[in-house]
Amino acid sequence: MNPKIIKVRTKPPYQILIQNGLLQNLSQDLAQHLSFGKVAIITDSTVEKLYGKTVLENLQRQNISAQLFSFPAGEASKHIFTVQDLARSLVQANFDRKDLILALGGGVVGDVAGFLASIYLRGIPFVQVPTTLLAQVDSSVGGKTGVDLPEGKNLLGTFYQPVRVYIDPEVLKTLPSVELKNGLAEVIKYACTLKPRLFSYLARNSAKILACEERALQWIISESCQAKAWVVSRDEKESGLRRVLNFGHTIGHALEALANYQKPHGFCVAVGMVVSARLSENLNLAQAGLSQKIVALLQTFGLPTKISELDLNPEPEAIFTLIQRDKKVWKGKLTMVLLKDLGQYVFYENPPFSALKLALTQTL
Ligand code: NAD
Ligand code: GLY
Repeated sequence: MNPKIIKVRTKPPYQILIQNGLLQNLSQDLAQHLSFGKVAIITDSTVEKLYGKTVLENLQRQNISAQLFSFPAGEASKHIFTVQDLARSLVQANFDRKDLILALGGGVVGDVAGFLASIYLRGIPFVQVPTTLLAQVDSSVGGKTGVDLPEGKNLLGTFYQPVRVYIDPEVLKTLPSVELKNGLAEVIKYACTLKPRLFSYLARNSAKILACEERALQWIISESCQAKAWVVSRDEKESGLRRVLNFGHTIGHALEALANYQKPHGFCVAVGMVVSARLSENLNLAQAGLSQKIVALLQTFGLPTKISELDLNPEPEAIFTLIQRDKKVWKGKLTMVLLKDLGQYVFYENPPFSALKLALTQTL
């Protein structure tokens, strides 16, 4: 069977390929569609053990010269020093602009390897081979790359699109359940804002998805990538429409900060989506009942729907202060993504504190 192909119409455009088992035969497609010299596989310590050899041997069987470079797994590695260490290793191994970087891993690997690719020798091509659900449905598509600073996440970075994205849902079988849920929060984000049919599919097929049934995973990944590709193709550099991808994130980021980044991102976004849906109801944008539908879906997947489930009990004022600092404050205005209904998003400027406070209190 041929892979499912999704086009991302950025400049230059590229394709996302989705197929079970793709990890074992991506070298053929690489050789057929891209011209390059050597391949630097960049990965983290966990993914290296699980899939490093598979990819390396697969490339070598196709007579592609390839070398593995790995760094310790975890967000702490999303640091400029990791980029510098990798760059020095590539120089020492004689990698030049005709060569290719292959990012094999979750969002951390993709962001670090993509950032490196964008600045190494002023830019060399890279492909994404995402291995977490979050990376498969979100971070591997759209070209945001970067590393963290002590002052905040993703503060150094570039927009730099991959030349191809290879998604193999089979690798999710080894993913810890908390990481699967993390990615599902982003899938639910697309379902709420852009894809009502994904919303109903998720509600009907939760058991299959949680059991990592291949066809179900492939379907939700494909729907999510289509949604992200549609957005990024229209607004590559986040000057307008791309902000829709921040649904649940304005509140979610504030909750993450209040929890000292000790709670999974997707869990904070899940609660952020509930607050945003309640705010939409409180402002009479959406009919009563919308937030309850979203709560029910999140609960089906074992995601939190209350602030207390994140072991937090903040004053609404504390959250309001944090969201004012959020980078989504747009030209001096706080713009939140709210909903009129499933699939009908609105960019809402400066929601009144009273309505937000009510939504936060309803979600404690
Ligand atoms: P991650 O990359 O840290 O991966 C989570 C854990 O899962 C790691 O320990 C990793 O080694 C392990 N892992 C990866 N694949 C595995 C597999 N198949 N089986 C078993 N274990 C596996 O985290 P993530 O959630 O994938 O990504 C989070 C990062 O992505 C954050 O830094 C975030 O800022 C970034 N991000 C970027 C974008 C973007 O557009 N660039 C979008 C969303 C998030
Ligand atoms: N994850 C949000 C974006 O790519 O814009």
